[in-house]
Amino acid sequence: MVAEVSEPVTGGAAPLLAAAGLRKTFGGGLPGARPALDGVDLTLARGDFVVIIGSNGAGKSTLLNSIAGSFLLDAGRITLAGQDITRLAGHRRAGLITRVFQDPMIGTAAEMTIEENLALAERRGARRGLRMNLNAARRDVYRELLKPLALGLEDRLTAQVALLSGGQRQALSLIMAVMSKPQLLLLDEHTAALDPRTAGLVMEATERVVRENKLTALMVTHNMRQAIETGNRLIMMDAGRIRDDIGGAEKTSLTAADLVEKFKIDNDRMLLGA
Ligand SMILES: Nc1ncnc2c1ncn2[C@@H]1O[C@H](COP(=O)(O)OP(=O)(O)OP(=O)(O)O)[C@@H](O)[C@H]1O
Ligand SMILES: [Mg+2]
Repeated sequence: MVAEVSEPVTGGAAPLLAAAGLRKTFGGGLPGARPALDGVDLTLARGDFVVIIGSNGAGKSTLLNSIAGSFLLDAGRITLAGQDITRLAGHRRAGLITRVFQDPMIGTAAEMTIEENLALAERRGARRGLRMNLNAARRDVYRELLKPLALGLEDRLTAQVALLSGGQRQALSLIMAVMSKPQLLLLDEHTAALDPRTAGLVMEATERVVRENKLTALMVTHNMRQAIETGNRLIMMDAGRIRDDIGGAEKTSLTAADLVEKFKIDNDRMLLGA
């Protein structure tokens, strides 16, 4: 019999991301300080779309920040595509790992135009000195990237980003985050500040760009519906640790009732989403 080659065998191919024993305590290790990361192990296969849930202060953002290189860990090791990045400075990971944050103001440069922002994002991780080349051909590419967002941004390339709504800026941030085809896309509650309709549009765009670019993604959310409907794995964090990691058929068939039951989730703290 001829073996099927399409399905990756779990444990077979080298993981895209391997984080082991991550520990971080803020506050200079003062006595009594609780670790923000208390021994986190996380392995992502290429193409994984992993959703992280957990209450406020569970360590979700700290985990993403540690992967992005915002600070040095107290202990642990992170490899990305086989490269040890544990001590690699954050800015040197920028071509490998990109992020979209909750705050729409963070991902874009307000004083610059949409096309200037896109040109900057395109050069992310590229060698210094590469000139920003804004010609008609690039503008056509940018329009094609913006069109599927259905926000009309493709007709506003020369508009200042400061003039855009939060949702429009967030959608632009997302496009900018994937332009350089990063190895890993980190999304930290990137739709939480948007109204339900716009949040839905940005989520749709997120799933599309991840699929089209065959990206690996790690997304934090407090929205239970997103946690159920998005991704192929769901991780629950609590007190700096990963408490559960659900994948495969269990993730596919997960319901809101399952989540409440499984994690004894405080309904008031988890948004059911619109
Ligand atoms: N830069 C920092 N300096 C000091 N303490 C920090 C820093 N970043 C995070 N912490 C602390 O680490 C713990 C985990 O915070 P983190 O932001 O990772 O939580 P979270 O799961 O993202 O929560 P939320 O759902 O509220 O965003 C918290 O106690 C927080 O106060
Ligand atoms: Mg957070």
